[in-house]
Amino acid sequence: EKDILNKLPLKGKKVLITAGPTYEAIDPVRFIGNHSSGKMGFEIALQAAHLGAEVHLISGPTNQKINHSLVEVIPVTSAEDMYLAVHKFFEDCHIAILAAAVADYKPRVVANKKIKKTENSLSLELEKTKDILASLGSIKKNQFLVGFALETDNEVENAKAKLKKKNLNLIVLNSLNDKGAGFKSDTNKVTLIDENENMTSFDLKSKEQVAKDIFVEILKQLHE
Ligand code: CTP
Ligand code: CA
Repeated sequence: EKDILNKLPLKGKKVLITAGPTYEAIDPVRFIGNHSSGKMGFEIALQAAHLGAEVHLISGPTNQKINHSLVEVIPVTSAEDMYLAVHKFFEDCHIAILAAAVADYKPRVVANKKIKKTENSLSLELEKTKDILASLGSIKKNQFLVGFALETDNEVENAKAKLKKKNLNLIVLNSLNDKGAGFKSDTNKVTLIDENENMTSFDLKSKEQVAKDIFVEILKQLHE
């Protein structure tokens, strides 16, 4: 199985990846964000490059670094920025893997000056951001589209529902329940679910190894 990873199977292919959090501005100095480190998406990008792919990595704010001639990093801040960047590269790509932890809501209005603490309480009105992954699912032609699902309960059911609703070829279910898995850690425990609802559960592993497992599955599916 691991053999196929050694022969540059993605040479000549374009892979689009999203990673990291998004920051949604409240005012010039504050934002709504989350604790995503970006590690998983960066490991996927590096692995894609090792397999010979030309990679566009669209990343929210992170400390991750990548140095590979086949990887171009496109830094973005908000969900809207990420949406626009993703749509620039999607049409020409062969595989899109959306690993970013996109903010689901953003402030309806962004204050143009710093909000002062004059009131005893403050309410922010939030509105939904665009669902980048779903937007790709609705326009995709031959691209192989991979999403992530972060769930705390009814994991498998929720992941299968996302797979269908967003028109994906594969979904990576992230188990947050296990110690050592998730956002900030170097390890992850995932279950892969394909279009036919075939499931493969993996042990807790390094994110580097999880990235390899994801590509072994993608390559298998592409050759079927
Ligand atoms: N995603 C996206 N754009 C958004 C929200 C999510 O592209 N505005 C993508 C993520 O990158 C991930 C997948 O959708 O690949 C699922 O994200 P997740 O947060 O698990 O699911 P949501 O659809 O946002 O639903 P909820 O948070 O309510 O579970
Ligand atoms: Ca979400």
